[in-house]
Amino acid sequence: MGAGHPLCRRPDKLLSIVANQRPFRETTALTVLISNFLALCPVRVDNGLTTGSRLGHGALQFGSISSQCANFYRNGCLAMNAISVRNLRKTFQTKRKAAGLSGSLRALWRPAFQDIEAVRGISFEMEEGELLGFIGPNGAGKSTTIKILTGILHPSSGEAAVLGYVPWRQRQALAFQIGSVFGQRPQLWYHLPAVDTFYLFGKIYELDDGSLKRRISFLAEAFEIEELLETPVRKLSLGQRMRCEVAASLLHKPRVLLLDEPSIGLDVVAKQRLRMTIQRMNELEGVGVLLTSHDAGDIETLCRRVIIVNHGEIVYRDKVSTLKRRYLTVKTVDVRYNEQLAPDFSLPGVEMLKVGRYGAKMRFDTRKTPVEPVISGLAAAGSLADVTVSEPSLEDVISAIYARTEA
Ligand SMILES: Nc1ncnc2c1ncn2[C@@H]1O[C@H](COP(=O)(O)OP(=O)(O)OP(=O)(O)O)[C@@H](O)[C@H]1O
Ligand SMILES: [Mg+2]
Repeated sequence: MGAGHPLCRRPDKLLSIVANQRPFRETTALTVLISNFLALCPVRVDNGLTTGSRLGHGALQFGSISSQCANFYRNGCLAMNAISVRNLRKTFQTKRKAAGLSGSLRALWRPAFQDIEAVRGISFEMEEGELLGFIGPNGAGKSTTIKILTGILHPSSGEAAVLGYVPWRQRQALAFQIGSVFGQRPQLWYHLPAVDTFYLFGKIYELDDGSLKRRISFLAEAFEIEELLETPVRKLSLGQRMRCEVAASLLHKPRVLLLDEPSIGLDVVAKQRLRMTIQRMNELEGVGVLLTSHDAGDIETLCRRVIIVNHGEIVYRDKVSTLKRRYLTVKTVDVRYNEQLAPDFSLPGVEMLKVGRYGAKMRFDTRKTPVEPVISGLAAAGSLADVTVSEPSLEDVISAIYARTEA
Protein backbone atom coordinates (compact mmCIF):
# COMPACT_ATOMS: atom_id res chain seq x y z
CA MET A 1 0.00 0.00 0.00
CA GLY A 2 1.50 3.30 -1.09
CA ALA A 3 1.93 6.28 1.15
CA GLY A 4 -0.65 8.07 -0.97
CA HIS A 5 -3.40 5.75 0.11
CA PRO A 6 -6.16 7.32 2.24
CA LEU A 7 -5.26 4.83 5.00
CA CYS A 8 -2.05 6.73 5.57
CA ARG A 9 -4.08 9.68 6.61
CA ARG A 10 -6.65 7.91 8.77
CA PRO A 11 -4.90 5.89 11.48
CA ASP A 12 -7.90 6.36 13.80
CA LYS A 13 -10.19 4.90 11.16
CA LEU A 14 -7.84 2.07 10.39
CA LEU A 15 -7.69 1.01 14.02
CA SER A 16 -11.45 1.18 14.53
CA ILE A 17 -12.00 -0.91 11.43
CA VAL A 18 -9.55 -3.47 12.69
CA ALA A 19 -11.34 -3.58 16.01
CA ASN A 20 -14.85 -3.90 14.59
CA GLN A 21 -14.60 -5.91 11.44
CA ARG A 22 -15.20 -9.60 11.87
CA PRO A 23 -12.63 -10.79 9.31
CA PHE A 24 -10.04 -8.53 10.83
CA ARG A 25 -10.84 -9.28 14.47
CA GLU A 26 -10.10 -12.85 13.67
CA THR A 27 -6.89 -12.16 11.89
CA THR A 28 -4.17 -11.60 14.39
CA ALA A 29 -1.61 -11.50 11.63
CA LEU A 30 -3.35 -8.52 10.17
CA THR A 31 -3.30 -6.66 13.47
CA VAL A 32 0.42 -7.23 13.70
CA LEU A 33 0.80 -6.18 10.10
CA ILE A 34 -1.17 -3.01 10.68
CA SER A 35 0.86 -2.13 13.77
CA ASN A 36 3.95 -2.53 11.64
CA PHE A 37 2.35 -0.49 8.95
CA LEU A 38 1.48 2.28 11.39
CA ALA A 39 4.97 2.25 12.72
CA LEU A 40 6.67 2.20 9.36
CA CYS A 41 4.47 4.20 7.05
CA PRO A 42 4.01 7.56 8.64
CA VAL A 43 6.86 9.24 6.92
CA ARG A 44 5.87 10.36 3.50
CA VAL A 45 8.79 10.39 1.13
CA ASP A 46 8.29 13.27 -1.19
CA ASN A 47 11.24 13.74 -3.46
CA GLY A 48 13.88 11.48 -2.20
CA LEU A 49 14.25 13.90 0.68
CA THR A 50 11.90 13.07 3.53
CA THR A 51 9.17 15.60 3.98
CA GLY A 52 8.39 14.36 7.47
CA SER A 53 4.65 14.41 7.00
CA ARG A 54 3.33 12.10 9.70
CA LEU A 55 0.31 9.88 9.53
CA GLY A 56 -2.75 11.95 10.19
CA HIS A 57 -0.71 15.06 10.64
CA GLY A 58 0.14 17.43 7.90
CA ALA A 59 -1.27 15.31 5.10
CA LEU A 60 -4.71 16.87 5.30
CA GLN A 61 -4.15 20.15 3.68
CA PHE A 62 -7.36 21.93 2.92
CA GLY A 63 -5.42 25.14 2.61
CA SER A 64 -6.68 27.99 0.52
CA ILE A 65 -5.83 27.88 -3.13
CA SER A 66 -2.93 30.07 -4.17
CA SER A 67 -3.71 33.18 -6.15
CA GLN A 68 -2.16 31.62 -9.26
CA CYS A 69 -4.46 28.64 -8.88
CA ALA A 70 -7.41 30.88 -8.23
CA ASN A 71 -6.79 32.38 -11.67
CA PHE A 72 -6.66 28.90 -13.06
CA TYR A 73 -10.09 28.31 -11.53
CA ARG A 74 -11.48 31.60 -12.74
CA ASN A 75 -10.37 30.87 -16.28
CA GLY A 76 -12.70 27.90 -16.19
CA CYS A 77 -9.96 25.30 -16.79
CA LEU A 78 -11.00 23.27 -13.81
CA ALA A 79 -14.70 23.23 -14.40
CA MET A 80 -14.61 21.62 -17.82
CA ASN A 81 -12.07 18.84 -17.46
CA ALA A 82 -11.47 15.85 -15.25
CA ILE A 83 -7.78 16.72 -15.25
CA SER A 84 -6.21 20.08 -16.08
CA VAL A 85 -2.48 20.56 -15.90
CA ARG A 86 -0.76 23.83 -16.66
CA ASN A 87 2.99 24.31 -16.89
CA LEU A 88 3.70 21.65 -14.28
CA ARG A 89 7.28 21.24 -13.14
CA LYS A 90 8.98 18.93 -10.71
CA THR A 91 12.65 19.09 -9.90
CA PHE A 92 14.11 16.53 -7.54
CA GLN A 93 17.20 17.31 -5.60
CA THR A 94 19.31 14.26 -4.93
CA LYS A 95 22.43 13.90 -2.87
CA ARG A 96 25.49 12.60 -4.67
CA LYS A 97 28.12 10.53 -2.98
CA ALA A 98 31.30 9.02 -4.36
CA ALA A 99 31.94 5.33 -3.62
CA GLY A 100 33.67 4.12 -0.48
CA LEU A 101 34.36 5.46 2.98
CA SER A 102 36.26 8.52 1.75
CA GLY A 103 33.26 9.38 -0.46
CA SER A 104 30.91 9.06 2.52
CA LEU A 105 33.14 11.28 4.65
CA ARG A 106 33.42 13.86 1.91
CA ALA A 107 29.64 13.81 1.45
CA LEU A 108 29.24 14.43 5.20
CA TRP A 109 31.73 17.26 5.16
CA ARG A 110 30.71 18.84 1.86
CA PRO A 111 27.45 17.35 0.54
CA ALA A 112 26.95 17.65 -3.21
CA PHE A 113 23.46 17.88 -4.67
CA GLN A 114 22.16 17.34 -8.14
CA ASP A 115 18.94 18.69 -9.61
CA ILE A 116 16.88 16.32 -11.71
CA GLU A 117 14.18 17.95 -13.78
CA ALA A 118 11.68 15.11 -13.95
CA VAL A 119 8.77 17.18 -15.29
CA ARG A 120 9.55 20.30 -17.31
CA GLY A 121 6.50 22.46 -17.80
CA ILE A 122 3.84 20.11 -19.10
CA SER A 123 0.27 21.19 -19.81
CA PHE A 124 -2.63 19.01 -20.84
CA GLU A 125 -6.30 18.32 -20.26
CA MET A 126 -8.32 15.16 -19.87
CA GLU A 127 -12.07 15.21 -20.26
CA GLU A 128 -14.44 13.38 -17.92
CA GLY A 129 -14.85 9.79 -19.04
CA GLU A 130 -11.91 10.00 -21.43
CA LEU A 131 -9.36 7.21 -21.85
CA LEU A 132 -6.08 9.06 -22.28
CA GLY A 133 -2.73 7.40 -22.94
CA PHE A 134 0.29 8.99 -21.27
CA ILE A 135 3.38 7.32 -22.62
CA GLY A 136 7.09 7.87 -22.88
CA PRO A 137 10.42 6.08 -22.47
CA ASN A 138 11.93 5.19 -19.08
CA GLY A 139 12.58 8.25 -16.95
CA ALA A 140 10.34 10.51 -19.07
CA GLY A 141 8.43 11.77 -16.02
CA LYS A 142 5.18 9.78 -16.30
CA SER A 143 5.07 8.37 -12.78
CA THR A 144 6.16 11.70 -11.32
CA THR A 145 3.23 13.41 -13.08
CA ILE A 146 0.79 10.76 -11.87
CA LYS A 147 2.12 11.05 -8.33
CA ILE A 148 1.54 14.80 -8.47
CA LEU A 149 -2.00 14.24 -9.76
CA THR A 150 -2.80 11.87 -6.89
CA GLY A 151 -1.37 14.35 -4.37
CA ILE A 152 1.54 12.12 -3.32
CA LEU A 153 4.08 14.64 -4.61
CA HIS A 154 4.11 18.41 -4.56
CA PRO A 155 5.15 20.01 -7.85
CA SER A 156 7.99 22.52 -7.87
CA SER A 157 5.74 24.91 -9.79
CA GLY A 158 2.72 24.98 -12.05
CA GLU A 159 -0.93 24.18 -11.59
CA ALA A 160 -3.03 21.07 -11.71
CA ALA A 161 -6.58 20.18 -10.89
CA VAL A 162 -8.21 16.79 -10.77
CA LEU A 163 -12.01 16.97 -10.72
CA GLY A 164 -11.66 20.52 -9.46
CA TYR A 165 -9.37 19.59 -6.57
CA VAL A 166 -5.79 20.75 -6.26
CA PRO A 167 -4.30 17.33 -5.55
CA TRP A 168 -1.48 18.27 -3.18
CA ARG A 169 -3.74 20.61 -1.20
CA GLN A 170 -6.98 18.61 -1.11
CA ARG A 171 -5.55 15.16 -1.07
CA GLN A 172 -8.08 13.52 1.20
CA ALA A 173 -11.17 14.91 -0.51
CA LEU A 174 -9.69 13.90 -3.85
CA ALA A 175 -8.98 10.36 -2.65
CA PHE A 176 -12.75 9.76 -2.48
CA GLN A 177 -13.11 10.67 -6.16
CA ILE A 178 -10.14 8.97 -7.79
CA GLY A 179 -8.59 5.53 -7.87
CA SER A 180 -4.97 4.77 -8.61
CA VAL A 181 -2.92 1.71 -9.41
CA PHE A 182 0.85 1.70 -9.56
CA GLY A 183 1.78 -1.52 -11.31
CA GLN A 184 5.16 -1.56 -9.63
CA ARG A 185 3.77 -0.88 -6.16
CA PRO A 186 0.92 -3.15 -5.09
CA GLN A 187 -1.67 -1.85 -2.66
CA LEU A 188 -3.28 -5.15 -1.68
CA TRP A 189 -1.90 -6.77 1.43
CA TYR A 190 0.43 -9.47 0.28
CA HIS A 191 -0.27 -12.09 2.94
CA LEU A 192 -4.03 -11.61 3.15
CA PRO A 193 -6.84 -12.53 0.79
CA ALA A 194 -7.78 -9.62 -1.45
CA VAL A 195 -11.30 -9.59 -0.01
CA ASP A 196 -9.90 -8.48 3.37
CA THR A 197 -8.27 -5.47 1.79
CA PHE A 198 -11.48 -4.82 -0.16
CA TYR A 199 -13.48 -4.67 3.10
CA LEU A 200 -10.90 -2.42 4.67
CA PHE A 201 -10.90 -0.04 1.71
CA GLY A 202 -14.70 -0.08 1.69
CA LYS A 203 -14.72 1.13 5.27
CA ILE A 204 -12.15 3.78 4.57
CA TYR A 205 -14.22 4.99 1.66
CA GLU A 206 -17.21 5.05 4.03
CA LEU A 207 -19.33 2.57 2.08
CA ASP A 208 -22.12 0.96 4.09
CA ASP A 209 -22.05 -2.82 4.45
CA GLY A 210 -24.80 -3.50 1.93
CA SER A 211 -23.36 -1.31 -0.80
CA LEU A 212 -19.87 -2.62 -0.14
CA LYS A 213 -20.99 -6.25 -0.52
CA ARG A 214 -22.92 -5.44 -3.70
CA ARG A 215 -19.96 -3.51 -5.09
CA ILE A 216 -17.52 -6.32 -4.31
CA SER A 217 -19.70 -8.91 -6.01
CA PHE A 218 -20.21 -6.63 -9.02
CA LEU A 219 -16.47 -6.02 -9.39
CA ALA A 220 -15.67 -9.68 -8.72
CA GLU A 221 -17.88 -10.62 -11.65
CA ALA A 222 -16.64 -7.83 -13.93
CA PHE A 223 -12.98 -8.68 -13.29
CA GLU A 224 -13.59 -12.45 -13.14
CA ILE A 225 -11.99 -12.71 -9.73
CA GLU A 226 -14.77 -14.45 -7.76
CA GLU A 227 -12.61 -17.54 -7.28
CA LEU A 228 -9.53 -15.53 -6.32
CA LEU A 229 -10.81 -13.17 -3.67
CA GLU A 230 -10.31 -15.52 -0.74
CA THR A 231 -6.82 -16.67 -1.75
CA PRO A 232 -3.88 -14.89 -0.10
CA VAL A 233 -2.58 -12.33 -2.56
CA ARG A 234 0.92 -13.82 -2.46
CA LYS A 235 -0.48 -17.01 -4.02
CA LEU A 236 -2.03 -15.24 -7.01
CA SER A 237 -0.38 -14.99 -10.40
CA LEU A 238 0.68 -11.51 -11.52
CA GLY A 239 -2.27 -11.26 -13.93
CA GLN A 240 -4.75 -12.36 -11.25
CA ARG A 241 -3.28 -9.95 -8.74
CA MET A 242 -3.40 -7.06 -11.16
CA ARG A 243 -7.11 -7.71 -11.84
CA CYS A 244 -7.69 -7.61 -8.06
CA GLU A 245 -5.62 -4.40 -7.79
CA VAL A 246 -7.64 -2.58 -10.43
CA ALA A 247 -10.91 -3.88 -8.96
CA ALA A 248 -9.84 -2.58 -5.52
CA SER A 249 -9.16 0.85 -6.99
CA LEU A 250 -12.74 0.97 -8.30
CA LEU A 251 -14.47 0.05 -5.04
CA HIS A 252 -15.63 3.58 -4.31
CA LYS A 253 -16.77 4.24 -7.90
CA PRO A 254 -14.09 6.83 -8.65
CA ARG A 255 -14.66 9.28 -11.49
CA VAL A 256 -11.02 9.19 -12.52
CA LEU A 257 -8.61 6.27 -12.53
CA LEU A 258 -4.86 6.86 -12.70
CA LEU A 259 -3.18 3.70 -13.94
CA ASP A 260 0.60 3.67 -13.93
CA GLU A 261 1.74 0.62 -15.87
CA PRO A 262 -1.06 -1.72 -14.83
CA SER A 263 -0.01 -4.25 -17.48
CA ILE A 264 3.64 -4.49 -16.47
CA GLY A 265 4.86 -8.07 -16.65
CA LEU A 266 1.56 -9.51 -17.87
CA ASP A 267 1.37 -12.01 -20.71
CA VAL A 268 -0.63 -11.20 -23.85
CA VAL A 269 -3.77 -12.96 -22.67
CA ALA A 270 -3.73 -11.34 -19.22
CA LYS A 271 -3.12 -7.94 -20.82
CA GLN A 272 -6.01 -8.42 -23.18
CA ARG A 273 -8.29 -9.44 -20.33
CA LEU A 274 -7.32 -6.43 -18.24
CA ARG A 275 -7.78 -4.05 -21.19
CA MET A 276 -11.25 -5.41 -21.89
CA THR A 277 -12.32 -4.99 -18.28
CA ILE A 278 -10.98 -1.43 -18.05
CA GLN A 279 -12.80 -0.60 -21.26
CA ARG A 280 -15.99 -2.14 -19.92
CA MET A 281 -15.79 -0.17 -16.67
CA ASN A 282 -15.27 3.00 -18.69
CA GLU A 283 -18.38 2.24 -20.73
CA LEU A 284 -20.48 1.15 -17.76
CA GLU A 285 -19.51 3.79 -15.21
CA GLY A 286 -17.92 6.52 -17.31
CA VAL A 287 -14.72 6.41 -15.28
CA GLY A 288 -12.00 8.49 -16.96
CA VAL A 289 -8.64 6.76 -17.23
CA LEU A 290 -5.17 8.25 -17.47
CA LEU A 291 -3.03 5.32 -18.49
CA THR A 292 0.71 4.88 -18.72
CA SER A 293 2.12 1.81 -20.37
CA HIS A 294 5.14 0.64 -22.30
CA ASP A 295 2.87 -1.53 -24.40
CA ALA A 296 1.63 0.24 -27.52
CA GLY A 297 -1.15 -2.36 -27.67
CA ASP A 298 -2.66 -1.02 -24.43
CA ILE A 299 -2.78 2.46 -25.89
CA GLU A 300 -4.05 1.29 -29.27
CA THR A 301 -6.83 -0.81 -27.74
CA LEU A 302 -7.94 1.52 -24.98
CA CYS A 303 -7.16 5.12 -25.76
CA ARG A 304 -8.63 7.50 -28.29
CA ARG A 305 -6.02 10.14 -27.51
CA VAL A 306 -2.37 9.89 -26.55
CA ILE A 307 0.22 12.18 -25.01
CA ILE A 308 3.86 11.29 -25.50
CA VAL A 309 6.41 12.67 -23.06
CA ASN A 310 10.18 12.58 -23.24
CA HIS A 311 12.68 14.20 -20.89
CA GLY A 312 9.81 15.69 -18.87
CA GLU A 313 8.24 17.46 -21.85
CA ILE A 314 5.29 16.69 -24.07
CA VAL A 315 6.59 15.81 -27.53
CA TYR A 316 3.36 14.66 -29.17
CA ARG A 317 -0.35 14.86 -28.44
CA ASP A 318 -3.20 13.84 -30.68
CA LYS A 319 -5.71 11.13 -31.43
CA VAL A 320 -4.23 7.64 -31.69
CA SER A 321 -5.88 7.35 -35.12
CA THR A 322 -4.12 10.55 -36.28
CA LEU A 323 -0.81 9.25 -34.97
CA LYS A 324 -1.30 6.11 -37.00
CA ARG A 325 -2.48 7.94 -40.08
CA ARG A 326 0.34 10.44 -39.94
CA TYR A 327 3.18 8.06 -39.20
CA LEU A 328 2.04 4.70 -40.53
CA THR A 329 2.51 5.82 -44.12
CA VAL A 330 5.18 3.34 -45.19
CA LYS A 331 3.56 0.22 -46.67
CA THR A 332 5.40 -2.99 -47.39
CA VAL A 333 3.84 -5.14 -50.13
CA ASP A 334 4.51 -8.82 -50.71
CA VAL A 335 3.14 -10.03 -54.01
CA ARG A 336 2.99 -13.50 -55.65
CA TYR A 337 2.07 -14.28 -59.27
CA ASN A 338 0.76 -17.36 -61.07
CA GLU A 339 3.20 -16.68 -63.89
CA GLN A 340 6.83 -15.59 -64.20
CA LEU A 341 7.71 -11.95 -63.58
CA ALA A 342 9.99 -9.89 -65.79
CA PRO A 343 13.43 -9.75 -64.08
CA ASP A 344 13.51 -5.94 -64.38
CA PHE A 345 10.05 -5.58 -62.80
CA SER A 346 9.62 -2.18 -61.15
CA LEU A 347 6.95 0.43 -60.41
CA PRO A 348 7.38 4.22 -60.29
CA GLY A 349 7.86 5.61 -56.75
CA VAL A 350 8.19 2.10 -55.28
CA GLU A 351 11.39 0.76 -53.76
CA MET A 352 11.91 -2.86 -54.80
CA LEU A 353 13.33 -4.81 -51.87
CA LYS A 354 13.43 -8.16 -53.66
CA VAL A 355 12.31 -9.43 -57.07
CA GLY A 356 12.06 -13.20 -57.57
CA ARG A 357 10.75 -15.31 -60.46
CA TYR A 358 7.18 -15.53 -59.17
CA GLY A 359 7.02 -12.73 -56.65
CA ALA A 360 8.40 -9.47 -55.28
CA LYS A 361 8.69 -7.52 -52.07
CA MET A 362 8.53 -3.74 -52.19
CA ARG A 363 8.04 -0.64 -50.05
CA PHE A 364 6.50 2.75 -50.72
CA ASP A 365 5.46 5.85 -48.79
CA THR A 366 1.81 6.81 -49.32
CA ARG A 367 2.69 10.49 -48.84
CA LYS A 368 4.77 10.37 -52.03
CA THR A 369 3.23 7.51 -53.98
CA PRO A 370 -0.54 7.02 -53.92
CA VAL A 371 -1.85 3.50 -53.32
CA GLU A 372 -4.01 3.26 -56.45
CA PRO A 373 -1.30 3.32 -59.19
CA VAL A 374 0.75 0.82 -57.18
CA ILE A 375 -2.15 -1.63 -56.99
CA SER A 376 -3.05 -1.21 -60.68
CA GLY A 377 0.64 -1.57 -61.63
CA LEU A 378 0.79 -4.84 -59.69
CA ALA A 379 -2.37 -6.13 -61.37
CA ALA A 380 -1.06 -5.18 -64.83
CA ALA A 381 2.21 -7.07 -64.27
CA GLY A 382 0.55 -10.53 -64.46
CA SER A 383 -2.02 -12.86 -62.96
CA LEU A 384 -1.95 -12.21 -59.20
CA ALA A 385 -1.92 -15.20 -56.82
CA ASP A 386 -1.59 -13.33 -53.51
CA VAL A 387 -0.95 -9.83 -52.12
CA THR A 388 -0.03 -8.90 -48.53
CA VAL A 389 0.17 -5.25 -47.48
CA SER A 390 1.72 -4.53 -44.09
CA GLU A 391 2.60 -1.37 -42.20
CA PRO A 392 4.94 -0.68 -39.27
CA SER A 393 3.46 -1.39 -35.86
CA LEU A 394 2.36 1.45 -33.58
CA GLU A 395 5.28 0.36 -31.40
CA ASP A 396 7.70 1.14 -34.27
CA VAL A 397 6.07 4.54 -34.73
CA ILE A 398 6.33 5.37 -31.04
CA SER A 399 9.97 4.32 -30.86
CA ALA A 400 10.68 6.50 -33.92
CA ILE A 401 9.09 9.46 -32.10
CA TYR A 402 11.16 8.72 -28.98
CA ALA A 403 14.32 8.52 -31.09
CA ARG A 404 13.49 11.75 -32.92
CA THR A 405 12.99 13.62 -29.63
CA GLU A 406 16.12 12.32 -27.93
CA ALA A 407 18.26 15.22 -26.80
N1 LIG B 1 12.14 10.37 -5.63
C1 LIG B 1 12.99 10.74 -6.60
N2 LIG B 1 14.15 11.35 -6.30
C2 LIG B 1 15.00 11.74 -7.28
N3 LIG B 1 14.77 11.57 -8.59
C3 LIG B 1 13.63 10.95 -8.95
C4 LIG B 1 12.68 10.51 -7.97
N4 LIG B 1 11.64 9.96 -8.63
C5 LIG B 1 11.92 10.04 -9.94
N5 LIG B 1 13.12 10.63 -10.12
C6 LIG B 1 13.75 10.92 -11.42
O1 LIG B 1 12.83 11.63 -12.21
C7 LIG B 1 12.90 11.19 -13.56
C8 LIG B 1 11.52 10.76 -14.02
O2 LIG B 1 11.17 9.59 -13.29
P1 LIG B 1 9.74 8.88 -13.46
O3 LIG B 1 9.67 7.78 -12.47
O4 LIG B 1 8.67 9.90 -13.41
O5 LIG B 1 9.85 8.31 -14.95
P2 LIG B 1 8.85 7.38 -15.74
O6 LIG B 1 8.47 8.09 -16.99
O7 LIG B 1 7.73 6.93 -14.87
O8 LIG B 1 9.78 6.16 -16.13
P3 LIG B 1 9.47 4.59 -16.20
O9 LIG B 1 8.85 4.34 -17.54
O10 LIG B 1 10.82 3.96 -16.11
O11 LIG B 1 8.56 4.23 -15.06
C9 LIG B 1 13.95 10.12 -13.61
O12 LIG B 1 15.16 10.69 -14.06
C10 LIG B 1 14.08 9.66 -12.18
O13 LIG B 1 15.38 9.24 -11.90
MG1 LIG C 1 7.10 5.12 -14.13
